[in-house]
Amino acid sequence: MYPTMDIRTTVAIVGAGPAGLLLGHLLAKSGIDFVIIENRSREYTLGRIRAGVLEQSSVAVLASLGLDGRLSEHGLVHDGIYLQYAGQRHHVDFNALIGRTVTVYGQQQVVNDLMLAHDALGSAVYFESADVLPRDIDTPRPSVEFTHDGTSYSVEADFVVGADGFHGVSRTIIPADSITTYERDYPFAWLGILANVAPSTDELIYALHPEGFAMHSMRSPQVSRLYLQVDPDEKIDDWSDQRIWDGLHRRLGIDGWTLHEGEITEKSITPMRSFVASTLNYGTLYLVGDAGHIVPPTGAKGLNAAISDVAMLGAAFTTYYAGDAGPLSTYSERALRRQWKTQYFSRWMTEMLHTSGAGTEAEFRYRGQVGQLEYVTGSHYALQSLAEQYTGLPIEGI
Ligand code: PHB
Repeated sequence: MYPTMDIRTTVAIVGAGPAGLLLGHLLAKSGIDFVIIENRSREYTLGRIRAGVLEQSSVAVLASLGLDGRLSEHGLVHDGIYLQYAGQRHHVDFNALIGRTVTVYGQQQVVNDLMLAHDALGSAVYFESADVLPRDIDTPRPSVEFTHDGTSYSVEADFVVGADGFHGVSRTIIPADSITTYERDYPFAWLGILANVAPSTDELIYALHPEGFAMHSMRSPQVSRLYLQVDPDEKIDDWSDQRIWDGLHRRLGIDGWTLHEGEITEKSITPMRSFVASTLNYGTLYLVGDAGHIVPPTGAKGLNAAISDVAMLGAAFTTYYAGDAGPLSTYSERALRRQWKTQYFSRWMTEMLHTSGAGTEAEFRYRGQVGQLEYVTGSHYALQSLAEQYTGLPIEGI
């Protein structure tokens, strides 16, 4: 038997990814007590390579908490993106179209900044916790049980927040008759690399090519991030560095432009999925980020959706403890309303830019996509709509 330790807090947060860590900061700012419980190690959490683009609204949330010190120094503000198809590259200038921008800054850097700020606050963050289990979420006295460093903990709280990702335990403890999940898998995946080479482009390139989608992103003036559409059952071991570069050259190449190669420091294949839970609230449990929804990465919405959930939930808790339970009672509905718009945009971008199928059906699809891209890049209204969605829809209630 482990020794036991009972802790009382106000909000118990499961998960120390960007969503859980950010929620902690919002609560701290309002003087609301919290504990964060994470089953991975701090190093693992910091090492995960994920998204790289922050919506203008996400930057604003981080800035409102004073968490944008390194972000404002190292984030790369981009006025737009390039859309490429049929050998042509079109610049989409969000700033000129609607006066908004995005900032390229790795999720890892966001997590690092949030962790360092928690260190400075002396926040209670339990990494490497085992057997994490929220309990009594259908009562006003929920708790989270876990073991950490040879001790069994029970953290009793007013509320539990599941910020533990798609594979986390929090969503799974909602009774099956109280939650429905909506899902869509795609017949392709992304092979992503990090390379020690200066980006060959000033802004991100999203390319449709008959062989499949390709993208050129970046992490810093010295580090490039590139992606290739591959079949979901491809094995990373079958992709030598040269095979990856050759594919990138073919799909991203246009006349008069050179893709610079460099040492590949990381490569992996990620499946693509759209997923939404029918509710982000059950009793005293609230879900944020990937615990409640997943988008395919085209359009870079995953991290931003987590930030918007957390901004709404943090504001709702603040209002709750100021005596108004209204915003908390509508959190799930409001967050899902924004999420379904994000789902629509991510799927639209994904289906516009990825190839699938075989034979004349694939050809029909591809030609239709070229028509769609010609329309989008040729229409001021379509470009404004793309710009509005890419740079981030408003976050209601913050
Ligand atoms: C990335 O840099 O990892 C990235 C950028 C844009 C996307 C997806 C991923 O749409």
